[in-house]
Amino acid sequence: ELRKRPAPIRQRLLVVANRLPVRANRKGESSWQLDMSIGGLVSALLDSCGILIEDTPDKGITEFETRWIGWAGVNVPDEIGQKSLTEALAEKRCIPVFLDEDLVNLYYNGYCNNILWPLFHYIGLPQEDRLATTRSFQSQFDAYVRANQMFADVVNEHYIEGDIVWCHDYHLMFLPKFLKEHNSTMKVGWFLHTPFPSSEIHRTLPSRSELLRAVLVADLVGFHTYDYARHFVSACTRILGLEGTPDGVEDQGKLTRVAAFPIGIDPGRFIRAIQLPQVKDHIEELKKRFSGRKIMLGVDRLDMIKGIPQKILAFEKFLEENPDWHDKVVLLQIAAPTRTNVLEYQKLTCQVHEIVGRINGRFGSLTTVPIHHLDQTLDFHGLCALYAITGFKKGSSDSKRGAAQSLGAGAILVNPWNITEVASSIAYALNMPAEEREKRHHHNFMHVTTHTSQEWAETFVSELNDTIVEAQLRIRQ
Ligand code: F6P
Repeated sequence: ELRKRPAPIRQRLLVVANRLPVRANRKGESSWQLDMSIGGLVSALLDSCGILIEDTPDKGITEFETRWIGWAGVNVPDEIGQKSLTEALAEKRCIPVFLDEDLVNLYYNGYCNNILWPLFHYIGLPQEDRLATTRSFQSQFDAYVRANQMFADVVNEHYIEGDIVWCHDYHLMFLPKFLKEHNSTMKVGWFLHTPFPSSEIHRTLPSRSELLRAVLVADLVGFHTYDYARHFVSACTRILGLEGTPDGVEDQGKLTRVAAFPIGIDPGRFIRAIQLPQVKDHIEELKKRFSGRKIMLGVDRLDMIKGIPQKILAFEKFLEENPDWHDKVVLLQIAAPTRTNVLEYQKLTCQVHEIVGRINGRFGSLTTVPIHHLDQTLDFHGLCALYAITGFKKGSSDSKRGAAQSLGAGAILVNPWNITEVASSIAYALNMPAEEREKRHHHNFMHVTTHTSQEWAETFVSELNDTIVEAQLRIRQ
């Protein structure tokens, strides 16, 4: 039954994502430290939805009052802890979903990050892992469904009639189904922050049909690029035998709208940060520290899909082929630790350390090394200072087709699997005439400042509203 509470003055937007924008650290029985979470989803939504974290001003999609529902990244088994954390999070307009350790292991480490994530990024599993995975698959899948039901229960508990519910990512593909089963009039959107793979890949998943059907219950389904939306529609037509239309997927007269909504950032947040005195000081320090050298900057989560080993191997090749550049260029790679309980991520960390060590041993001197690799999460201001000193703008690669498509004319596009090509692109970028660099930078700057995260969120949410209106009109006709 719906909660009977006075309607809020502004329409509410309930953002539901696996992770809250803050990660909780327990400091005492009922005292908590809340640190900002990392990742693309969190930054895009923080910037656009006006959740009160750090310096994020209360703005975003201004006509909505936003609440964020998700997991705080911590196991809280006791009632006192759950109550106090709920109160601390309420100040940030966040609502926790409490998941115990076993569930996190099977649902998050297992089904989400060991099965869906590699599959959606075309990484696949080695044969022996696949067999092992097949054995543990069922328990992980069951945990996934159970966790999605728990998210749905929290949404239902907080839902007020008229709210819009925006579900995010591959962790919550069953959420639209559970929400609509409980309340068919709820406005539910679902957006995927990863690629959606070709139907030929998706069909290798034992639960391929259940996942598609659960997502299709949403009113609006969004992807980063047109290609991912097309793959999703093809998976529905080929695997479920439904009809694909230019607007989405049709099942017995009910249309689920499927579309591309390319994401952006909040440029104002960066521009404001680099005006701050402490950031200005930090910029000056960094300039001194690396004076006389060109700086290449990589900022990524330490994830296999980010291509960190490929990037540094290409940098090694570049150094091999361009001895004149030794000591004149440095690669700063910030590799924020992520999903550290998943074996593949542990293996990747060792692999990256091994390669960085070899290259620094090979090309370093007593006073300098060519690669500064940090397994650390830098705070936002630290990152802004790094962005500000980087004369070398980050290239865009095929592995992130969204960025490559959007920044095509300004960026240097490379095939990240071809180390020789990446190495020569590094050389090209470092030797690029100032005029060309300015032109490319201008193009990218214009793109990034026009296609913002706020615009992305506004477009999705207003289309979600319209989709419902259309659906109701159809029923009335
Ligand atoms: O790309 C999917 C995604 O959810 C991103 O939006 C986010 O950057 C990242 O994964 C976060 O991963 P996790 O919550 O597992 O740390």
